[in-house]
Amino acid sequence: MSLNKFSRTLTQEVTNPAAKAMLYGIGLTPEDMEKAQIGIASTGYEGNPCNMHLNGLSVHVKKGIQENGMVGLIFHTIGVSDGMTNGNEGMSYSLPSRDIIADSIENVVGAQWYDGVIAVVGCDKNMPGAMMALARLNRPGMLVYGGTIRSGNYKGEKLDIVSAFEALGKKYAGTISDEDYEGVIRNSIPGAGACGGMYTANTMASSMEAMGLVLPNSSSYPATHEGKKAECLAIGAAMKVLLEKNICPRDIMTRHAFENAMTVVMALGGSTNAVLHYLAIAHSAGVEFTLKDIQDISDRTPLMADLKPSGKYYMEDVLAIGGMPAILKYLWKEGYLHGECLTVTGKTMAENLTDAPDLDFDAQKIIFPKSKALKSSGHIQVLYGNLATEGAIAKITGKEGERFEGLAKVCDREEDVMEFLSKGEIKAGHVVVIRNEGPKGGPGMPEMLKPTSALMGAGLGNSVAMITDGRFSGGTHGFVVGHVTPEAQEGGNIALVKDGDKITIDAVDNKIILHVSDEELAERRKLWKPKVSPHTSGVLRKYIKNVASASLGCVTDL
Ligand code: FES
Repeated sequence: MSLNKFSRTLTQEVTNPAAKAMLYGIGLTPEDMEKAQIGIASTGYEGNPCNMHLNGLSVHVKKGIQENGMVGLIFHTIGVSDGMTNGNEGMSYSLPSRDIIADSIENVVGAQWYDGVIAVVGCDKNMPGAMMALARLNRPGMLVYGGTIRSGNYKGEKLDIVSAFEALGKKYAGTISDEDYEGVIRNSIPGAGACGGMYTANTMASSMEAMGLVLPNSSSYPATHEGKKAECLAIGAAMKVLLEKNICPRDIMTRHAFENAMTVVMALGGSTNAVLHYLAIAHSAGVEFTLKDIQDISDRTPLMADLKPSGKYYMEDVLAIGGMPAILKYLWKEGYLHGECLTVTGKTMAENLTDAPDLDFDAQKIIFPKSKALKSSGHIQVLYGNLATEGAIAKITGKEGERFEGLAKVCDREEDVMEFLSKGEIKAGHVVVIRNEGPKGGPGMPEMLKPTSALMGAGLGNSVAMITDGRFSGGTHGFVVGHVTPEAQEGGNIALVKDGDKITIDAVDNKIILHVSDEELAERRKLWKPKVSPHTSGVLRKYIKNVASASLGCVTDL
């Protein structure tokens, strides 16, 4: 079977002489014209630790491709640093970047007739964006994770990006000296790699390994580990198998594979962003996968990992206990994963895992056996009620309790939280309501890591709850509910909350209730007007016009 199914349009068809001339112009030989062409989508750029090394990894991927008789052609896409944009207006561009990344990879591979695509990824949005592109294109392909960062260190304490955010809360609370504050900021990020806890990047990396879209252990090698380079070089041989067997992403991204991915998110205490992303990826793959499916998976999957943000360990610690294959093997053996799912090795998940190491529950304390799970169900719960008629996502590990009742403290924008906090106006028992931060209102559904970190740093993490139509960073912990839909900008009841209203959040019965009568809400609605957006043109304007609600994954191509 010819492996250059698509690229032969340019290299073989006599009607495209200019294309062939251009391919000679970039250095291809007559022999190369017979070979499969693989697009290597590097999401590397210099401005972010997660992405700074990805162009280098792409060169290793290209080497492996060339050594296996294919032509590798590197191209680039955009990126946004979630760590840098959290808490400022740059965050509005973050979630839209996922869809731009998906669109740009789809666009290049479609236009350039590549026979396959490999995406080199390593930050929150480029992983889901690349998965969406692979699903849409449905040409043989896979991803390579750039790897997690190593932890930082200051005065003997391990640090990561969240340490830097939480230092601000300590500064407000007067519990950190200026010198130590600066010490934390300078030492939190020691070099290349994605944010180091089970935050969004590592959540997506582990779950895409569970989905079978990367080579085994891709999510466990830290960015600076030798295994990462070896993995990149090994991609060529794996890609050849995918082409020869014509295994395409939708053969891998089945309904059961989505269940495997979300099961791993639940078991490891992963980011709520995975909900948005897997809804969107399923849409791209043409797979029926809804909030109800996610709740069902949460109901049957215990939280078994002591990983940050709510736990103790970092992703860099996972390799030493056998890596992700050991974790997947345990989950598969215990019946949580579907072993028959096909993966990019050309084998099934079960076949890949047969020789994987076993978790040693006596020697390691990162993953607990199901009999000693931290919580008997998943930490991600889908809540409904008059505050979220189309759903909201709670992240409750159980450490915070599973029920919270308190009085609303309304913030019409994220920045209000910091202002109220600095004035001491946020107190124990408050439900902090941050609104106008949804997909259209934010726009871009900003992450509320800065407010949640500041509350933690201020010592209010266990006595205050937070709800928002925005979303939370994977680094957030505490009693938090995001993705409230309909959002305030669309007239959801979150727009009508007033200071002092009673709110109940119940993660056992999956309810989120505003204790205000329908009559009173109707009266308040008469006075409500949507916020006028300052974005009258450009990328955010396009996004506001096209984005679907969070309960549909914020897709832009409905
Ligand atoms: Fe890239 Fe955190 S900013 S993973």
